[in-house]
Amino acid sequence: MSPRKVIIDTDPGQDDAVALLLALASPDELEVLGVTVVAGNVPLDLTVKNACIVCELAGKPETKVFAGCDKPLGRKLVTAEHVHGKTGLDGPVMPEPVMPVKDAHAVDFIIDTLRAEPTNSVTLCPLGPLTNIATALTRAPDIADRIQEIVLMGGAYFQVGNITPAAEFNIYVDPQAAEIVFKSGIPLVVMPLDVTHKALTTQPRVDAFRALGTKAGIMVAEWTDFFERFDKEKYGSAGAPLHDPCVIAYLLEPEMFFGRHVNVEIETSSELTMGMTVADWWRVTDRPPNAMFMGDLDADRFFSLLTSRIALL
Ligand code: RIB
Ligand code: CA
Repeated sequence: MSPRKVIIDTDPGQDDAVALLLALASPDELEVLGVTVVAGNVPLDLTVKNACIVCELAGKPETKVFAGCDKPLGRKLVTAEHVHGKTGLDGPVMPEPVMPVKDAHAVDFIIDTLRAEPTNSVTLCPLGPLTNIATALTRAPDIADRIQEIVLMGGAYFQVGNITPAAEFNIYVDPQAAEIVFKSGIPLVVMPLDVTHKALTTQPRVDAFRALGTKAGIMVAEWTDFFERFDKEKYGSAGAPLHDPCVIAYLLEPEMFFGRHVNVEIETSSELTMGMTVADWWRVTDRPPNAMFMGDLDADRFFSLLTSRIALL
């Protein structure tokens, strides 16, 4: 079977970095047409640099990396240095990247690439705020039918918010963009905090990355050592949630995830609940289901896949 064509949209961030490594370590299953970068965890100049650092760490400097939107559609950019550190990839010292960033804007790459591909042939994998995706869909509505599905990390329902009491970071940063994506009619698979909070980097799992003894394995262990300090203190959990790799793991082994096809709408009016993903989990409305909203995963299988693939780099 030919590899699945994907565009990964990202705001690295340590968890984005692990997701990129997983994708780039899986060329038999995934053809990464390009990596489009958005402002989110840290400002755009840093997320672009971090995307290049990760592609070089994966031994794939030929990966096409494109800089995208540097701020949300209609709000001031909110970043997350408190979680990811000043660079966005705090933890280990990382070498300056030397690979080139493509000249085209990420949104133009998304539009042009989708227009050149057959119907329902490309999967979009947003791992950060949805600004690039929403901008592309607004500027070129015709691209929607080229998209097989959008598999994204974002939102929360039973796990409520991580940046406000009601909202998860990716959706909160650009709720207008999220509303455009969730109302697009494109098939959505959503990895909310409800599932990512069950993908915890416990010590044995971090030790397994380090025990690989490879540069990539050691980097992943160092990144998780750094960014889990915040979540372990906040949630008192046995490790940090490894959010974004859930998106890529779904593409590789979807059967490890469990969820429900429900209606999900985005709060874009009240500042109190801005960016909340209002999931009709119990189907108490007649709003049509628009998203496969994940709530659980086989965490051991997830980390076994992750470790075995990172070992290939
Ligand atoms: O809320 C978690 C999400 O926000 C992850 O994608 C993390 O990288 C940040 O972007
Ligand atoms: Ca992210």
